[in-house]
Amino acid sequence: MTDFIKNPVVPLPDRMPDPVVAKDDLFFTEDEKKQIATWVSRYPTADGAVMRVLWLAQEKFGFLPPEAVQLVADTLDMPYAKVYGVATFYTQYFKEKKGTYVFDVCTCFSCQMCGGYDMLHYLEDKLSIHAGDTTEDGLFTVQEAECLGACGSAPMLQVTNGPYVHNLTREKIDALIDALREGNMPQFESVTLPQDENELGGNRRTDVARTTTYTTPPVSETVK
Ligand code: FES
Repeated sequence: MTDFIKNPVVPLPDRMPDPVVAKDDLFFTEDEKKQIATWVSRYPTADGAVMRVLWLAQEKFGFLPPEAVQLVADTLDMPYAKVYGVATFYTQYFKEKKGTYVFDVCTCFSCQMCGGYDMLHYLEDKLSIHAGDTTEDGLFTVQEAECLGACGSAPMLQVTNGPYVHNLTREKIDALIDALREGNMPQFESVTLPQDENELGGNRRTDVARTTTYTTPPVSETVK
């Protein structure tokens, strides 16, 4: 562990942990290399394909330990730091081993206002773990996520970078966990946002008298 920063606010990652992917397994197959070459050919420079290649590595190794990040960097002839920066920016890339099912509970602004933290704490209590942890049986990981772009059906969570569960309730969480314990992944649920504010119970803005152009969704008066 680094010792040049005294009392870091969060623990700094071990810069040279023991590798978890055996050296003999740390490679892309010829087919995977061909696929990578196709992706790379779509961009002016190889780094354009970095997200797709990181994704491939995650699907192959289950997560992205430093040696997998290094493999991606070597494959695309990029500096490790640049690839690491991409991998750590997105919560969808797993930097450590996760459970079979990962619950990304959105606690960003809209979800927070609609009870996102209540849902997160309910999940934590139900699974007896804290956000960021994995259950002892390795089945579930719970983590907080930033906005996942479904604010209109807040609060919500995403299951392992896949299906969204909208308008989350304790009952929906119970049903979700029961289904996943039986190996049934929910289908992606497509939710149409209300197109008319009356569907939402009318305009609830308190300053409505001062707004002349407000509609749901907002419509520009200048762009036709
Ligand atoms: S704030 Fe939760 S999806 Fe946008």
